[in-house]
Formats: sequence, structure tokens, C-alpha cells
Amino acid sequence: MPGDHGETPPTARGNTGETPPTAHGITGETPPTARGITGETLLDVRGLTVEYVSEQGSVRACDDVSFTVRRGEILGVAGESGSGKSTLITALTRLERPPAVTTAGEILFRPRGAAKPVDLVGLLERDLRKLRWRDMAIVLQSAMNALNPVMRLEAQFTDVLREHDCTLSRRTARERTAELLTLVGLTAGQANRYPHELSGGTRQRATIALALACGPDLVVMDEPTTAVDVVMQRQILANLLRLRERLAFAVVFVTHDLSLLVELADRIAIMYAGRIVEIGTAADLYHHPRHPYTEGLRASFPPLREPVRRLSGIPGSPPDLRDPPPGCAFHPRCPQRFAPCDSVLPVLGPVGDQQVACLLHTGGPTLGHARKERTDDALGH
Ligand SMILES: Nc1ncnc2c1ncn2[C@@H]1O[C@H](COP(=O)(O)OP(=O)(O)OP(=O)(O)O)[C@@H](O)[C@H]1O
Ligand code: SF4
Ligand SMILES: [Mg+2]
Repeated sequence: MPGDHGETPPTARGNTGETPPTAHGITGETPPTARGITGETLLDVRGLTVEYVSEQGSVRACDDVSFTVRRGEILGVAGESGSGKSTLITALTRLERPPAVTTAGEILFRPRGAAKPVDLVGLLERDLRKLRWRDMAIVLQSAMNALNPVMRLEAQFTDVLREHDCTLSRRTARERTAELLTLVGLTAGQANRYPHELSGGTRQRATIALALACGPDLVVMDEPTTAVDVVMQRQILANLLRLRERLAFAVVFVTHDLSLLVELADRIAIMYAGRIVEIGTAADLYHHPRHPYTEGLRASFPPLREPVRRLSGIPGSPPDLRDPPPGCAFHPRCPQRFAPCDSVLPVLGPVGDQQVACLLHTGGPTLGHARKERTDDALGH
């Protein structure tokens, strides 16, 4: 079942005016009204499945993943290492390379001005190339991998700008480069630098500026601040929020750090073993995590703006996706598992305003007995 389709429009904080406790504490400013969020669906991912194929068998790193992103919205994706976040990001932008293969699903993307969405899964490389940068852009963890080490920044910006507007003069491209660098807090003079002459944080800002060069509707970011220190991380994220307010692009932001997303994102999707196990507004996930894995993740990170509490973490480690556990993939680590968890695969379904894949919430009437057994066990009956 496609995950959050047909759902009531998500009550992202910008739409409700609700202010989660930590909302946009990154900027230290009044929470933005997220005026870019229009309610119109920009991205509609349905049943996306990506496998790494080898002679020894295939690894399903992204399994029946469904979610939507609205214009101007920041969707955070969190999960432990190996949960499939990068696989999802590269598949979204159709940058996956063998042995990764998209084996099922649709990625319906509706750029500004388009009469109807296009399915990126079915697009030819030449058509994808037209969309990249102009309509969707990607920022990766390592700016060194994204920037060409033997070209000055200005030449790289000019390449991207002229790829999508070949009528652009060199002078205009230079002016536009200076504007873009200023936008992310750099100076026009830094356009003359080679990447190795810049600090990690400056390089990462430059890659964000490059991603914004052609005014995309969607920016996909894979751990963009993991390689920089905490101070720089907060500066970059504050800048990102301001830019989103100003330019109204949507963001899919991947990180393992849930507490960072609570400050940054409008909605959050939690991934485990290649599947989305919970998705909801940042406020709902923070205050009322429904999936035991989300609860565990939340207890693994110190809150950024609240008194320090004891961190409990999650016992065990994520499964080897070459041989995932049957039923709910989280069951070997789940403190709330009960009888059917090792045989029934939970699917994402509505629980309040959230979507949750856990038999505690979406099991149906036949599971009531098993639930009672679990409670009796816990009580020692
Ligand atoms: N090149 C590959 N060949 C085979 N399997 C792979 C390959 N790359 C990733 N995988 C499998 O896909 C799973 C998901 O990997 P992915 O890189 O998407 O996770 P991630 O959530 O981004 O992790 P991290 O937080 O460490 O970046 C891995 O656990 C691994 O089993
Ligand atoms: S389905 Fe069962 S094992 Fe999985 S998270 Fe829910 S309670 Fe835990
Ligand atoms: Mg990754």
C-alpha cells in the first residue's frame, strides 16, 4: 500500500501555526511561517523499491517506500547507518548506479509550470539531465566529492548556469555566482578559489549555493553537515532555513541525527531496514513517537534545547539486509515485541495524524489476543 497517500494534508507546523518546543531554534528567530508551503504536492513517491543485485543474491535497501513532499516543505529522513537513507536519496534523483537497481515504484515529480507530474523512474537520462539543477538538485555529505578539485568555484558555477541557459554571458554568470555565494554567507572574492583552498564548512556552503544556482523546486541533501563542526553545522542549517523562506524550495534532508531534524524539518520520516516505519510532523514525532524504534532513536540523542536527560539508546544493531529478520525487521531489538511480530510484516497505516508501521497500532482485531498475552507475560501472569 502506498504509504501516506490519501492522507489528510499533513499538519506541518507552518500550516497550523503550532510551535513545537524546539521549532527552528537553530536560527534563534521567530519560527517562520513557512510561507513557501502551499499544500501542493511536489513529489509523490509510491512503493519505491531499490535493490543491490549481485550473484550472491539481492539486498533490498529501499523497500516499498512511499511519501509525499509539498512545495516549500522540509521533509527530514532519519535512521541508523545502513537503514537505506542514501539509497533512497540517490534513487530519488535517479543517480543510482549498478549494482543498485530500482525494481519497483514511481517517483512522481511536478516541477513549477508543469501541467502534470512526470514519473522520474521512466525518464530517459537526457530528460533527467534537463530536470537536474534546474528543477531538482542534490547536496552530498562530502563537498570535496561534489566540487571539481581542479576548477575554481566561478568556473564550476558558470558551467552549471550556462548548461541551463546557454544565452547567459560570462559576465552575467560571474555576477550570478557572486550573488549565490553571498546568499550562503560567502564573499564574491571566494569565487576565485579552488576547493582545496577553502575550509570544509565553506566548501559545503559553496555546494549548497551551487545546488540553488538554477532556482530548483526541490533540493535533496544527504548528511550535508556531518563533515563540519557543530558551530558550522548550525550556521549552515540556519542559513538553509532562511533561504527556504526566501526562495520557497522544498528539501528532503537525510541525517542520522533525529534531534537536529526536530529543529529543522516540517515533517520527519523514520527509516529502518529499508522501510519507512513512521512519518509525521516534527512536533508529533517528538512529543508522541508511536513506533518503538522512533522512541529508541529519540532516546539516543540529547535534546538540543532542553535539559540533558539520560540517554538510553537502542540495544543491538541494525539487521544485515542480505538476510533480514522475518516479520517486523525491528523485532529482535524491540522492547515491546509480541507474538506475531516475528512473522507478520507491519505496513504503514494511519495512527492519528501520523503513519506508523507497527503491529501495536495497525495489527487489526486478530492481534488483540497476542497483545494480551504480551501484557500478561509482562505482568508475570
Ligand atoms: N554498493 C552496495 N552493494 C551492496 N549493498 C549495498 C551497497 N551499498 C549499500 N548497500 C546495502 O544497502 C544498505 C543501505 O545502505 P545506505 O548507504 O543506503 O544506508 P544509509 O542509511 O545511507 O547508511 P549511512 O548512515 O551509513 O550513510 C546497506 O546496509 C547495505 O546492506
Ligand atoms: S511490530 Fe512488533 S516488533 Fe515491530 S515495532 Fe511493533 S511491537 Fe515492535
Ligand atoms: Mg548514507
